[in-house]
Amino acid sequence: MNFHVMTLFPDMIMSAASGSILGRAQKSGLINVNAVNIRDYTDERRRGRCDDYPYGGGAGMVMQAQPICDCCDAVRRMIDEEGRSGSSARVIYMTPQGRTFTQAMAAELSREEDLILLCGHYEGIDERALELIGTENVSIGDYVLTGGELPALVMIDCISRLIPGVLGGDESALIETFHDNLLEYPQYTRPEVYKGLHVPEILLSGHHENVEKWRRERSIERTLRYRPDLIGSAVLNKKEMRFLEELKRQLQEETDASGEADISGSKEGFKA
Ligand code: ADE
Repeated sequence: MNFHVMTLFPDMIMSAASGSILGRAQKSGLINVNAVNIRDYTDERRRGRCDDYPYGGGAGMVMQAQPICDCCDAVRRMIDEEGRSGSSARVIYMTPQGRTFTQAMAAELSREEDLILLCGHYEGIDERALELIGTENVSIGDYVLTGGELPALVMIDCISRLIPGVLGGDESALIETFHDNLLEYPQYTRPEVYKGLHVPEILLSGHHENVEKWRRERSIERTLRYRPDLIGSAVLNKKEMRFLEELKRQLQEETDASGEADISGSKEGFKA
């Protein structure tokens, strides 16, 4: 998978992508992260400036269409020169106004050969650049960051770990986090007792089936407490459905007893 990041801050992308698992994946040729400086595509007269005042007035500066469009053309040509199709590479514009990035979106994008990620700054990008390029707009969440670089890195990280070989054998299991639309169960490692807190007995039993059942139930419980929005699409067998119904009843009782209005467990959610 080749990530081409169009940005005003290429160092930010290259340094974050050179460490840890992404760095290892790049060294072994499983992914390639290529940051392209939009500033290099400003026309001569502008001497590296790629923003201007917004038509109609208002605060802040807007990134101009020309350097972005020329940069994108250059990236597409680079892809062509490497023997792939630049014109069919999808261009994703990182913006809080986009579709929210999800695990399912990451899985879909991980099947692409090339992805072009466009990072904005200031008050945004001249709309004509987005129109001419035909960007898909993606947000990493309902909050506003200073630029698209961190969101692009979030996407690169999340997509890369889905590419076969990027995670080692042991690490691959972690892909399960949103498996069946459930949150991960709690994990423990040595020692058995830490500051008076014991590892749940069942995990020491060596009884594989019981451990599996316990883990599934904890996943269901966590999802209901912390992400009730996901529980409706969780993939559960009949026994687990009954477990969930019982859990909902218990949670409702707890809520009624504490006089709170909803069972989302948002207070619980911040305990961890
Ligand atoms: N740029 C600024 N904020 C963003 C967000 N939440 N997602 C994607 N791009 C952004």
